[in-house]
Amino acid sequence: MDKLLIEGGLKLRGEVTISGAKNSVLPILAATLLTEDACIIKGVPDLRDTNTMLKILKSLGKAVEFDKGVVIVTQAKNANYVADYKLVSTMRASFCVLGPLLARLKKAKVSLPGGCIIGVRPVDLHLKGMRALNSQIDIESGYVLAKTQKLKGANIYLGGEYGSSVLATDNVMMAATLASGRTVLESAACEPEVHDLAEFLIKMGAKIRGHGTPIVEIEGVRELHGAEHKIIPDRIEAGTFLLAALITGGDVIIKNVFAKHLGAVIDKLQESGACLDICDNSIRIRHRKHLSPTNITTLPYPGFPTDMQAQIMSLMAVTEGISVITEKIYPDRFMHVAELNRMGAHIQREGPHAIVSGVKCLSGAPVMASDLRASACLLLAGLVAGGKTSISRIYHLERGYENIEEKFRNLGARIWREKE
Ligand code: EPZ
Repeated sequence: MDKLLIEGGLKLRGEVTISGAKNSVLPILAATLLTEDACIIKGVPDLRDTNTMLKILKSLGKAVEFDKGVVIVTQAKNANYVADYKLVSTMRASFCVLGPLLARLKKAKVSLPGGCIIGVRPVDLHLKGMRALNSQIDIESGYVLAKTQKLKGANIYLGGEYGSSVLATDNVMMAATLASGRTVLESAACEPEVHDLAEFLIKMGAKIRGHGTPIVEIEGVRELHGAEHKIIPDRIEAGTFLLAALITGGDVIIKNVFAKHLGAVIDKLQESGACLDICDNSIRIRHRKHLSPTNITTLPYPGFPTDMQAQIMSLMAVTEGISVITEKIYPDRFMHVAELNRMGAHIQREGPHAIVSGVKCLSGAPVMASDLRASACLLLAGLVAGGKTSISRIYHLERGYENIEEKFRNLGARIWREKE
């Protein structure tokens, strides 16, 4: 396994271009199972998770080509309705092949995704939606067995105790595209990636309205055809680079970003004193003056994204004063706290809250990545810490950030990889 080494203390300067959104491309690749026709997806980031989803599509009977950001999916052999544990257990998002398989083949056998370090991550809302669409759901030896004579539209409330569910909305919306009659999803997730999936489904011939709002209406159709689609920019990668510029006191232009997808993050950074020049699809960020502490609560979109919580904790760890970070989506998503404290941060966990008392400086140290966004948090901390930081288990980072070292090196960071 590799580890990432960072020499801290350098200001980032220059331009970085953001890749396509991981959390958009994964459900959109799953949606290609809804047709036998060819689909062409552009702006696809070359990530560990992208390649896992492509392996799953191949195991389900698809042929896939992936070159220079373009994925072409065609039907290779008879469709297979079983999504194997070996692949599904490595990536939770693969669970959203359930809806498309059930819709097109009237049956599906999909391994239950394991939990992960950020939380238990149940799938009860996914299964609630599939049952509501007139399918029979059984759980057997760690697999979900779903079957139906005919999917029928329904009114489905998809809200859970932690708010709406992104992938449950994706899964049920995809199944509903081929159900007979009308489906209304209430308390649907509003994330830009859900909207992007719906835009792709509409290009395939689906009849969807209200996507990106809490009420989504789907009029079932008999079949869907192939389509071509370009993935939206990754707002979480863009947010990570905004913080990297700030934490190093740099001056960075971020290109291929939709500022409208980062409203809550931009609001917090401006409140904290960051200087941002915002254009349609680029943002220049400079460290203007002393940043002030701020309180963060993660919420479903358009609230502050949970996927930016670990990263902003690094910034608040070196921002003088007290910042309280409250995690409402995954109350246990704090594995990064102990690692930041090993670098000299003063952070205290109180249930779903982290109380961050900013320090003047962090010190480089050997740390361990526990999940995708925690590894981004440790990278940001390493950029500002004195001395050298080495981050082990960086396969977590490779799941969601394309060419991350090269992008940071081009901005002046001293960052390299070594064998563990
Ligand atoms: C998506 O995961 C993202 N992943 C996550 O990003 C992101 O953190 C999350 O949405 C929240 O924004 C992808 O899109 C591939 P949820 P998802 O269902 O859909 C609970 C990253 O770092 N819940 O929206 O699996 C759940 O436990 C990853 O890129 C149920 O209770 O998350 C959580 O508390 C990490 N029952 C809340 O809802 C369910 O059936 C939101 O989860 C489903 C979810």
